[in-house]
Amino acid sequence: MSELEKLKSELKDLNAEYAKIKTLPPAERGQFGREMNAKKQSLLADIARAEEQAESENISPIDISAPSAPNQPIFSPKFGTKHPLMVELDRVTEIYADMGFDVMESLQLDDEFHMFDSLNFPKEHPARDGYDTFRTSENFIPPAHTSTMQHRALKKYKKCLEDGGQIAVVIPGRVFRNEDADATHEHTFYQCEGVFVSKNATMGQMFGVLKRFFETYYGQSLRIKTQPGYFPFTEPSAELLIEKPKSLGGKGGDWLEMLGCGMIHPNVLKTAGINPEIYHGFAWGGGIDRLAMLKYGLSDVRYFESGKLDFLEEF
Ligand code: DAH
Repeated sequence: MSELEKLKSELKDLNAEYAKIKTLPPAERGQFGREMNAKKQSLLADIARAEEQAESENISPIDISAPSAPNQPIFSPKFGTKHPLMVELDRVTEIYADMGFDVMESLQLDDEFHMFDSLNFPKEHPARDGYDTFRTSENFIPPAHTSTMQHRALKKYKKCLEDGGQIAVVIPGRVFRNEDADATHEHTFYQCEGVFVSKNATMGQMFGVLKRFFETYYGQSLRIKTQPGYFPFTEPSAELLIEKPKSLGGKGGDWLEMLGCGMIHPNVLKTAGINPEIYHGFAWGGGIDRLAMLKYGLSDVRYFESGKLDFLEEF
Protein backbone atom coordinates (compact mmCIF):
# COMPACT_ATOMS: atom_id res chain seq x y z
CA MET A 1 0.00 0.00 0.00
CA SER A 2 1.39 3.39 -0.91
CA GLU A 3 1.76 6.20 1.59
CA LEU A 4 -1.18 7.99 0.04
CA GLU A 5 -3.47 4.95 0.17
CA LYS A 6 -2.54 4.39 3.82
CA LEU A 7 -3.46 7.98 4.71
CA LYS A 8 -6.73 7.73 2.84
CA SER A 9 -7.72 4.56 4.71
CA GLU A 10 -6.84 6.25 8.02
CA LEU A 11 -9.21 9.04 7.07
CA LYS A 12 -11.96 6.51 6.42
CA ASP A 13 -11.43 4.93 9.88
CA LEU A 14 -11.45 8.34 11.45
CA ASN A 15 -14.79 9.19 9.85
CA ALA A 16 -16.21 5.92 11.21
CA GLU A 17 -14.94 6.79 14.67
CA TYR A 18 -17.00 9.97 14.64
CA ALA A 19 -20.11 7.84 15.10
CA LYS A 20 -18.92 7.09 18.67
CA ILE A 21 -19.84 10.62 19.66
CA LYS A 22 -23.48 9.55 20.15
CA THR A 23 -22.52 6.94 22.77
CA LEU A 24 -20.66 9.46 24.96
CA PRO A 25 -22.17 11.40 27.87
CA PRO A 26 -23.00 14.94 26.66
CA ALA A 27 -20.30 16.50 28.87
CA GLU A 28 -17.52 14.60 27.06
CA ARG A 29 -18.79 15.15 23.54
CA GLY A 30 -17.24 18.64 23.07
CA GLN A 31 -13.75 17.47 24.01
CA PHE A 32 -14.08 14.37 21.80
CA GLY A 33 -15.24 16.44 18.80
CA ARG A 34 -12.34 18.89 19.09
CA GLU A 35 -9.79 16.08 19.23
CA MET A 36 -11.31 14.32 16.23
CA ASN A 37 -11.36 17.55 14.21
CA ALA A 38 -7.70 18.24 14.94
CA LYS A 39 -6.77 14.71 13.84
CA LYS A 40 -8.81 15.09 10.69
CA GLN A 41 -7.21 18.42 9.74
CA SER A 42 -3.72 17.03 10.14
CA LEU A 43 -4.63 13.92 8.10
CA LEU A 44 -6.09 16.05 5.30
CA ALA A 45 -2.89 18.13 5.18
CA ASP A 46 -0.79 14.93 4.99
CA ILE A 47 -2.98 13.62 2.16
CA ALA A 48 -2.62 16.87 0.16
CA ARG A 49 1.16 16.71 0.57
CA ALA A 50 1.28 13.05 -0.50
CA GLU A 51 -0.90 13.77 -3.54
CA GLU A 52 1.39 16.58 -4.67
CA GLN A 53 4.42 14.35 -4.28
CA ALA A 54 2.82 11.54 -6.31
CA GLU A 55 1.92 13.97 -9.07
CA SER A 56 5.44 15.34 -9.41
CA GLU A 57 6.86 11.81 -9.53
CA ASN A 58 4.63 11.06 -12.52
CA ILE A 59 5.99 13.90 -14.71
CA SER A 60 8.96 12.99 -16.83
CA PRO A 61 11.59 15.72 -16.89
CA ILE A 62 11.65 17.94 -20.01
CA ASP A 63 14.89 19.21 -21.47
CA ILE A 64 13.91 22.78 -22.31
CA SER A 65 17.10 23.32 -24.28
CA ALA A 66 16.30 20.50 -26.71
CA PRO A 67 16.02 21.92 -30.27
CA SER A 68 13.01 19.86 -31.36
CA ALA A 69 10.57 17.57 -29.66
CA PRO A 70 11.44 16.94 -26.02
CA ASN A 71 13.77 14.05 -25.45
CA GLN A 72 14.38 13.36 -29.13
CA PRO A 73 17.99 12.56 -29.87
CA ILE A 74 19.88 15.78 -30.62
CA PHE A 75 21.94 15.71 -33.80
CA SER A 76 25.09 17.80 -33.82
CA PRO A 77 23.76 21.23 -32.86
CA LYS A 78 24.63 23.99 -35.36
CA PHE A 79 24.30 27.65 -34.65
CA GLY A 80 23.47 30.05 -37.46
CA THR A 81 25.55 33.12 -38.16
CA LYS A 82 24.78 36.49 -39.65
CA HIS A 83 24.68 36.51 -43.45
CA PRO A 84 28.01 37.90 -44.76
CA LEU A 85 26.23 40.74 -46.56
CA MET A 86 24.52 41.81 -43.33
CA VAL A 87 27.89 41.86 -41.59
CA GLU A 88 29.27 44.12 -44.35
CA LEU A 89 26.18 46.29 -44.31
CA ASP A 90 26.60 46.89 -40.58
CA ARG A 91 30.27 47.70 -41.10
CA VAL A 92 29.44 50.19 -43.88
CA THR A 93 26.85 52.06 -41.83
CA GLU A 94 29.14 52.02 -38.81
CA ILE A 95 31.89 53.80 -40.78
CA TYR A 96 29.49 56.50 -41.96
CA ALA A 97 27.95 56.80 -38.49
CA ASP A 98 31.44 57.44 -37.09
CA MET A 99 31.71 60.33 -39.57
CA GLY A 100 28.47 61.77 -38.15
CA PHE A 101 25.88 60.36 -40.56
CA ASP A 102 22.52 59.25 -39.28
CA VAL A 103 21.26 55.85 -40.50
CA MET A 104 17.79 55.44 -41.97
CA GLU A 105 16.10 52.21 -42.99
CA SER A 106 14.86 51.74 -46.57
CA LEU A 107 11.70 50.10 -47.89
CA GLN A 108 11.45 46.91 -49.93
CA LEU A 109 8.33 48.00 -51.76
CA ASP A 110 7.96 51.46 -53.16
CA ASP A 111 6.07 53.46 -55.79
CA GLU A 112 6.51 55.35 -59.06
CA PHE A 113 6.80 58.69 -57.28
CA HIS A 114 9.75 57.73 -55.09
CA MET A 115 11.42 55.58 -57.77
CA PHE A 116 11.23 58.19 -60.52
CA ASP A 117 9.22 61.43 -60.15
CA SER A 118 10.80 62.63 -56.90
CA LEU A 119 14.21 61.97 -58.49
CA ASN A 120 13.64 64.25 -61.47
CA PHE A 121 13.19 61.50 -64.06
CA PRO A 122 11.19 63.21 -66.82
CA LYS A 123 7.85 61.49 -67.51
CA GLU A 124 8.10 58.84 -70.25
CA HIS A 125 11.88 59.36 -70.34
CA PRO A 126 13.99 56.38 -71.52
CA ALA A 127 16.12 56.73 -68.34
CA ARG A 128 13.17 55.11 -66.51
CA ASP A 129 13.77 51.95 -68.53
CA GLY A 130 17.45 51.94 -67.59
CA TYR A 131 16.65 50.64 -64.15
CA ASP A 132 15.01 47.34 -65.15
CA THR A 133 12.37 47.71 -62.50
CA PHE A 134 10.07 44.94 -61.37
CA ARG A 135 6.46 45.92 -60.83
CA THR A 136 3.66 44.29 -58.92
CA SER A 137 0.25 43.94 -60.58
CA GLU A 138 -0.88 46.89 -58.40
CA ASN A 139 1.99 48.95 -59.88
CA PHE A 140 4.14 49.02 -56.78
CA ILE A 141 7.88 48.92 -57.41
CA PRO A 142 10.41 46.88 -55.47
CA PRO A 143 13.09 49.61 -55.45
CA ALA A 144 15.79 49.29 -58.12
CA HIS A 145 18.10 51.55 -56.12
CA THR A 146 18.22 53.06 -52.65
CA SER A 147 17.85 56.53 -54.21
CA THR A 148 14.09 55.94 -53.80
CA MET A 149 14.69 56.98 -50.18
CA GLN A 150 16.25 60.35 -51.01
CA HIS A 151 12.98 62.27 -51.02
CA ARG A 152 11.95 60.76 -47.68
CA ALA A 153 15.34 61.51 -46.15
CA LEU A 154 15.27 65.12 -47.35
CA LYS A 155 11.78 65.63 -45.92
CA LYS A 156 12.54 63.85 -42.66
CA TYR A 157 15.69 65.86 -41.91
CA LYS A 158 14.67 69.20 -43.49
CA LYS A 159 14.16 70.61 -40.02
CA CYS A 160 17.91 70.23 -39.33
CA LEU A 161 18.54 72.80 -42.08
CA GLU A 162 15.92 75.16 -40.68
CA ASP A 163 17.61 74.82 -37.30
CA GLY A 164 20.92 75.96 -38.84
CA GLY A 165 22.42 72.44 -39.19
CA GLN A 166 22.83 70.06 -42.08
CA ILE A 167 21.37 66.84 -43.41
CA ALA A 168 23.77 63.89 -43.19
CA VAL A 169 22.21 60.47 -43.57
CA VAL A 170 23.00 57.07 -45.07
CA ILE A 171 20.35 54.57 -46.09
CA PRO A 172 21.31 50.94 -46.64
CA GLY A 173 18.76 48.77 -48.37
CA ARG A 174 17.87 45.77 -50.47
CA VAL A 175 17.25 46.50 -54.14
CA PHE A 176 15.87 44.52 -57.08
CA ARG A 177 16.45 44.57 -60.83
CA ASN A 178 14.74 42.61 -63.52
CA GLU A 179 17.86 41.51 -65.36
CA ASP A 180 19.64 38.28 -66.15
CA ALA A 181 21.92 37.14 -63.38
CA ASP A 182 25.56 36.43 -64.13
CA ALA A 183 28.80 36.48 -62.14
CA THR A 184 28.59 40.24 -61.64
CA HIS A 185 24.83 40.87 -61.76
CA GLU A 186 22.10 39.74 -59.41
CA HIS A 187 18.36 40.44 -59.44
CA THR A 188 18.57 41.13 -55.70
CA PHE A 189 21.42 43.00 -54.08
CA TYR A 190 22.22 45.65 -51.50
CA GLN A 191 23.14 49.29 -51.81
CA CYS A 192 23.96 52.09 -49.47
CA GLU A 193 22.77 55.59 -50.27
CA GLY A 194 24.25 58.76 -48.81
CA VAL A 195 22.68 62.20 -48.68
CA PHE A 196 24.33 65.37 -47.44
CA VAL A 197 22.84 68.89 -47.60
CA SER A 198 24.13 72.15 -46.17
CA LYS A 199 24.50 75.79 -47.21
CA ASN A 200 27.89 75.15 -48.75
CA ALA A 201 28.22 71.46 -49.66
CA THR A 202 30.74 70.83 -52.43
CA MET A 203 31.88 67.97 -54.63
CA GLY A 204 35.26 68.21 -52.91
CA GLN A 205 33.63 67.41 -49.56
CA MET A 206 31.87 64.48 -51.16
CA PHE A 207 35.08 62.98 -52.56
CA GLY A 208 36.70 63.52 -49.17
CA VAL A 209 33.91 61.60 -47.42
CA LEU A 210 34.01 58.78 -49.99
CA LYS A 211 37.79 58.43 -49.96
CA ARG A 212 37.73 58.25 -46.18
CA PHE A 213 34.98 55.64 -46.36
CA PHE A 214 36.84 53.34 -48.77
CA GLU A 215 40.12 53.70 -46.89
CA THR A 216 38.46 52.82 -43.60
CA TYR A 217 36.56 49.90 -45.10
CA TYR A 218 39.62 48.36 -46.76
CA GLY A 219 41.95 49.43 -43.95
CA GLN A 220 44.57 51.07 -46.16
CA SER A 221 45.18 54.25 -48.11
CA LEU A 222 43.72 54.19 -51.60
CA ARG A 223 43.68 56.27 -54.74
CA ILE A 224 40.34 57.36 -56.11
CA LYS A 225 39.34 58.91 -59.42
CA THR A 226 36.11 60.00 -61.00
CA GLN A 227 34.61 59.91 -64.42
CA PRO A 228 31.52 61.66 -65.73
CA GLY A 229 28.22 59.88 -65.25
CA TYR A 230 24.57 60.55 -65.90
CA PHE A 231 21.80 60.41 -63.35
CA PRO A 232 18.68 62.58 -63.62
CA PHE A 233 18.83 63.29 -59.88
CA THR A 234 22.32 64.78 -59.79
CA GLU A 235 23.98 67.63 -61.68
CA PRO A 236 26.84 67.23 -62.26
CA SER A 237 26.92 63.44 -61.96
CA ALA A 238 29.96 61.25 -61.58
CA GLU A 239 31.14 57.71 -61.10
CA LEU A 240 33.73 57.05 -58.45
CA LEU A 241 36.48 54.51 -59.00
CA ILE A 242 39.06 53.18 -56.60
CA GLU A 243 42.40 51.69 -57.47
CA LYS A 244 42.39 48.03 -56.59
CA PRO A 245 44.54 47.71 -53.46
CA LYS A 246 47.77 45.70 -53.90
CA SER A 247 46.92 43.66 -50.81
CA LEU A 248 43.73 42.57 -52.59
CA GLY A 249 45.47 41.49 -55.77
CA GLY A 250 45.75 44.85 -57.56
CA LYS A 251 48.74 45.30 -59.86
CA GLY A 252 48.56 49.09 -59.84
CA GLY A 253 46.35 51.00 -62.25
CA ASP A 254 43.37 48.58 -62.01
CA TRP A 255 40.45 50.93 -61.53
CA LEU A 256 37.17 49.62 -60.19
CA GLU A 257 33.92 51.53 -60.48
CA MET A 258 32.37 51.55 -57.02
CA LEU A 259 29.45 53.98 -57.02
CA GLY A 260 27.42 56.74 -58.65
CA CYS A 261 27.34 60.20 -57.13
CA GLY A 262 26.88 63.88 -57.75
CA MET A 263 25.47 67.18 -56.57
CA ILE A 264 21.76 66.77 -55.81
CA HIS A 265 19.69 68.24 -58.65
CA PRO A 266 17.88 71.47 -57.67
CA ASN A 267 14.56 69.89 -58.71
CA VAL A 268 15.06 67.04 -56.21
CA LEU A 269 15.63 69.55 -53.41
CA LYS A 270 12.66 71.65 -54.56
CA THR A 271 10.29 68.65 -54.65
CA ALA A 272 11.20 67.97 -51.01
CA GLY A 273 10.53 71.61 -50.08
CA ILE A 274 14.19 72.67 -49.78
CA ASN A 275 15.23 75.92 -51.44
CA PRO A 276 18.07 75.14 -53.91
CA GLU A 277 19.03 78.84 -53.96
CA ILE A 278 20.11 78.50 -50.32
CA TYR A 279 21.03 74.85 -49.84
CA HIS A 280 23.27 72.49 -51.79
CA GLY A 281 23.75 68.81 -51.40
CA PHE A 282 25.56 65.77 -52.64
CA ALA A 283 24.42 62.19 -52.80
CA TRP A 284 25.86 58.83 -53.71
CA GLY A 285 24.82 55.22 -53.95
CA GLY A 286 26.80 52.05 -54.41
CA GLY A 287 26.53 48.29 -54.10
CA ILE A 288 27.43 46.50 -50.90
CA ASP A 289 27.88 43.15 -52.66
CA ARG A 290 30.58 44.65 -54.84
CA LEU A 291 32.45 46.02 -51.82
CA ALA A 292 32.36 42.64 -50.13
CA MET A 293 33.38 40.73 -53.28
CA LEU A 294 36.55 42.79 -53.52
CA LYS A 295 37.25 42.47 -49.81
CA TYR A 296 36.95 38.68 -49.86
CA GLY A 297 38.23 38.09 -53.39
CA LEU A 298 34.94 36.54 -54.58
CA SER A 299 34.38 36.09 -58.27
CA ASP A 300 30.65 35.37 -58.37
CA VAL A 301 28.04 37.64 -56.80
CA ARG A 302 25.37 34.95 -57.06
CA TYR A 303 26.78 33.07 -54.08
CA PHE A 304 25.35 35.67 -51.71
CA GLU A 305 21.72 34.92 -52.55
CA SER A 306 22.30 31.23 -53.23
CA GLY A 307 21.69 29.89 -49.74
CA LYS A 308 24.71 27.59 -50.28
CA LEU A 309 25.71 26.66 -46.77
CA ASP A 310 29.29 25.68 -47.58
CA PHE A 311 29.80 29.19 -48.97
CA LEU A 312 28.04 30.97 -46.11
CA GLU A 313 29.86 28.91 -43.49
CA GLU A 314 33.19 30.26 -44.68
CA PHE A 315 32.37 33.61 -43.09
N1 DAH B 1 21.04 55.15 -57.75
C1 DAH B 1 22.16 55.06 -58.66
C2 DAH B 1 22.24 53.64 -59.19
O1 DAH B 1 21.83 52.72 -58.55
C3 DAH B 1 23.45 55.43 -57.98
C4 DAH B 1 23.48 56.86 -57.57
C5 DAH B 1 23.98 57.79 -58.43
C6 DAH B 1 23.02 57.26 -56.34
C7 DAH B 1 24.02 59.14 -58.08
C8 DAH B 1 23.06 58.60 -55.97
C9 DAH B 1 23.57 59.52 -56.85
O2 DAH B 1 22.62 59.05 -54.80
O3 DAH B 1 23.61 60.81 -56.48
O4 DAH B 1 22.72 53.44 -60.27
